[in-house]
Amino acid sequence: MVSEAPKDPREEVIQAWYMDDSNEDQRLPHHKEPKEFVSLEKLDELGVLSWKLDADNYETDEELKKIREARGYTYTDFCEVCPEKLPNYDEKIKHFFEEHLHTDEEIRYCVAGSGYFDVRDLDDKWIRVWVKKGAMIVLPAGIYHRFTLDSDNYIKAMRLFVGDPVWTPHNRPNDDLAARKEYLENFVNKGTSNQVFDATA
Ligand code: LAC
Ligand code: NI
Repeated sequence: MVSEAPKDPREEVIQAWYMDDSNEDQRLPHHKEPKEFVSLEKLDELGVLSWKLDADNYETDEELKKIREARGYTYTDFCEVCPEKLPNYDEKIKHFFEEHLHTDEEIRYCVAGSGYFDVRDLDDKWIRVWVKKGAMIVLPAGIYHRFTLDSDNYIKAMRLFVGDPVWTPHNRPNDDLAARKEYLENFVNKGTSNQVFDATA
């Protein structure tokens, strides 16, 4: 028997891959051919953090409590995305999928269902991040992203925030916002001094 290295438990509830360029139904997976998966370490490099948590016991989960305390997440509510529960469903679905950024972290904990958070990589390519029940993700302030349901058409997400929530999406382009500049400084321009040098040559 070949023993394999233990898998990162997060991989059971989070998967990421580069997207194809087709304009077909946004709820389809949009894998490239052949498939090109993206590691959770690579997401870390973009500032996208993730955890696998016990979604059946979020009320008493010590691990969630620790994350909230460590990161200062004082605010919590739930957002259920389905026609019956989300006012202006069609309009919201459309807006969620418009490329945007926020001036604060976007923190979502999928407690039921599933969905796709698409984020731009350092070369501005779309990475599709599939979150399922038990996945909690943090998109950093200033990252361009969008959201869509998958073909199962349902997600229930806990939304967390530091203090009073601000959900405002700033649609692309919005490169003059301080949050965008800080994101570029912290993640995109980090370690790419050669590229910057070449660009000015
Ligand atoms: C949000 C997701 C749709 O801003 O990105 O709530
Ligand atoms: Ni957003």
